Amino acid sequence: MASISGLSAKARAALLARMSQRKPDQQAETPAGRRGFGDLPGMKEHDMLRSAIETLNLRSPFFREHDGIAAGHSRMGNREVVNFSSYNYLGLNGHPRVAEAAKSAIDRYGISVSASRLVSGERPIHAELEAALAKLHGAEAAIAMVSGHATNVTTIGQMMGPRDLILHDAAIHNSCLEGARLSGARRVAFAHNDWQAAGRELAAARAGASKVLILIEGHYSMDGDTPDLARFIALARQYDAWLMVDEAHSVGVLGATGRGIAEAQGIDPAEVDIWMGTLSKTLSACGGYIAGSRVLVDWLRHAAPGFIYSVGLAPALAAAAIESIRLMQAEPERVAKLNANAALFTRLAREAGLDTGASEGHAIVPVILGSSLRAVRLSEALFQAGLNVQPIIFPAVPEKSARLRFFISADHSEEDIRFAVKTVAETNASLGQV
Ligand SMILES: Cc1ncc(COP(=O)(O)O)c(C=O)c1O
Repeated sequence: MASISGLSAKARAALLARMSQRKPDQQAETPAGRRGFGDLPGMKEHDMLRSAIETLNLRSPFFREHDGIAAGHSRMGNREVVNFSSYNYLGLNGHPRVAEAAKSAIDRYGISVSASRLVSGERPIHAELEAALAKLHGAEAAIAMVSGHATNVTTIGQMMGPRDLILHDAAIHNSCLEGARLSGARRVAFAHNDWQAAGRELAAARAGASKVLILIEGHYSMDGDTPDLARFIALARQYDAWLMVDEAHSVGVLGATGRGIAEAQGIDPAEVDIWMGTLSKTLSACGGYIAGSRVLVDWLRHAAPGFIYSVGLAPALAAAAIESIRLMQAEPERVAKLNANAALFTRLAREAGLDTGASEGHAIVPVILGSSLRAVRLSEALFQAGLNVQPIIFPAVPEKSARLRFFISADHSEEDIRFAVKTVAETNASLGQV
């Protein structure tokens, strides 16, 4: 059982004993004879993790409560911790100008637009946001939706169909996978970040497919590495495929002015067919978008179920994202500070013997531990020592890559970074064999 492999024999025996006394509501059938929820997908793994955490007398590292803004520091349980669990890459969440923009949008348009834009009509704030997003990606047009996850699901799910092929990086985000599943297209994963492997898969599968979509991320959310964009563009051209790049973790992070992987790698953004991004990270709001050709965006405005059958983005969120884009462009020193912080973290962590995998040190730095239980234990010990960092455990990643994942921010000071790496290295060593 992969997820308990990190336990000692005694702890494993205690865990198995506890598992055998599962409560009725976790079983497939309740004593009253009604169907229970125990056989829902993932229930067993969830149950096992909870039992393991209880057996080890740990607190769950999930759903920890914050009492304030998700910034470089956060108030949690009446004390301040250095926070590495939020995507507030440029420190714009809580910026007075962003908060003010959101408040005036509420005063002018209300909190909700109260219906789908298609049926109930437009407000200029949506068009303003979409123009800013299109410009950011050097695209003709953009469309904003209420969630980043839903943007991928509905766009991919609607564009592709059963006669088509979706070729995706093995580490692509769940929202892309869900969209691919919904579409009914044939799905083929290629080895993470390996354009040559992608080429081999295309050579083998292209002929049998009608449309082909290649899905990659501009900056991978689990590993903090980036693809060779020019190679993927070349593959898309060679095999008559569309290339879609998820820039959720690239905007504000890559490129001197935070415009993402095209800026970082000196590539004409028009070479990419579909840019996807979220408003929830650097842009300190909530929502997702597609930027690309006018034809594509216009089609999505009339065909994407997640847009036409869903409410328009809340005005306060649109306004916050617009103001965040303005600040990002006016203050590129924030992007430089973020990258300097992340590079320092990665260098110090490697010097301390921590395994940071393939991270390029832009904003996302994993510390790979190889055991889910070790990751949960270390996360708890670090929390006690004043650091908030989340473990990423099986089944989100294979057991051997269980890790802590650090999101670095421009809001962190050099002192925060040095304190964090030193504390992680010392605490990890003090745990011994878990
Ligand atoms: C690569 C990637 N794409 C899409 C999403 C979904 O975005 P959101 O959280 O804004 O819904 C995420 C979320 O973390 C992500 O990491």
